[in-house]
Amino acid sequence: MIILSIETSCDETAASIVRVKGRKVEVLADVVSSQIKLHQKFGGVVPQLAARAHLQNMVPVLEKAFKKAGIAKKKIDYIAITKGPGLIPALMIGVNAAKALSYTLDKPLVEVNHLEGHIYANWLEKEKADLYTLKKMEFPVLCLIVSGGHTQLVLMKKDMRFQIVGETVDDAVGEAFDKVAKILELGYPGGPMIENLAVVGNGEAFAFPRPMMGSKDFNFSFSGLKTAVLYETQKGDKTDKKYQADIAASFQVAALDVLVLKALKAAKKYGVKNVFLGGGVSANKALRKALWEKFKKELPEVNVDFPPFKFTTDNALMIAIAGYYHIAQGKGITDCKHLKADMNLRLK
Ligand code: KG4
Ligand code: ZN
Repeated sequence: MIILSIETSCDETAASIVRVKGRKVEVLADVVSSQIKLHQKFGGVVPQLAARAHLQNMVPVLEKAFKKAGIAKKKIDYIAITKGPGLIPALMIGVNAAKALSYTLDKPLVEVNHLEGHIYANWLEKEKADLYTLKKMEFPVLCLIVSGGHTQLVLMKKDMRFQIVGETVDDAVGEAFDKVAKILELGYPGGPMIENLAVVGNGEAFAFPRPMMGSKDFNFSFSGLKTAVLYETQKGDKTDKKYQADIAASFQVAALDVLVLKALKAAKKYGVKNVFLGGGVSANKALRKALWEKFKKELPEVNVDFPPFKFTTDNALMIAIAGYYHIAQGKGITDCKHLKADMNLRLK
């Protein structure tokens, strides 16, 4: 089966073409056109500019994907598309492109939730370049979603069934990374910059709060932590490299402490077999290490694993993989008349 997938929920215009045979996934093309440069000067993603750039980039990205895959457009069997959640002007460009392709090629559409994509990136086991195997998954699975727009603990008892057992009550963790980077005037996107600075900083230099660490539920809150960073930086010298690094390290350690502890508590409560990370912040090596070490020490029977680095931030391949599981279950298959974008789409 050949799946074309399209992703435009935020600031990456992406398309991939995969051939799935049993558990084997052959990546025929995986194209991501990033808009980071465009949004950098605004310190964050500007939805209307993102949409305009998607509109400009969509056809070149599709052309590149088909050229790389070396197949005729008619050869694809399905078009998997990110329906939401995300920025509505951005989502609509991808959705409209998918509708047009579905209409002209007469191929069915598969509606994919962006977060399903981040979760299913964990199913990919690399064999060799462009060749992956889909893991034989043991449930229950717990996935900690850590992206720019979401922070959720998602429990899965079987494929394609999602139960949100905890989530942020305010900012997402990626958003907190980005805002702290903005406070330190580091630029956008802040996550990788904070991570790099934290490596040379002292995580114990500032005792930042761990919001909701002791709450009985599995929810998170990051806005108080961000505000604590803001107040601290009003007292110090933000241009001092050592000071910046200590702030970054102390912020990061506080944020990761809460994420890791809540994931551990949820894993214990629900007796899960696998714990995964999903979303842009899952690229953070300190988070991977902290999660891995905590489970190794306190819950060694649980398998902790991560998506391939290449597929941590937004990409279309993950949408194709989630789309494949949709197709396998006949879930979310639609046509060009009925497909809609939904900025608030929830996992279910
Ligand atoms: O999943 P993603 O690419 O887009 C959304 O779905 O939101 O996540 C983007 C987020 C941004 O907030 C970015 O700063 C963060 O992921 N991020 C990181 C790292 N790489 C990306 N945060 C911390 N450490 C990183 N290495
Ligand atoms: Zn994402």
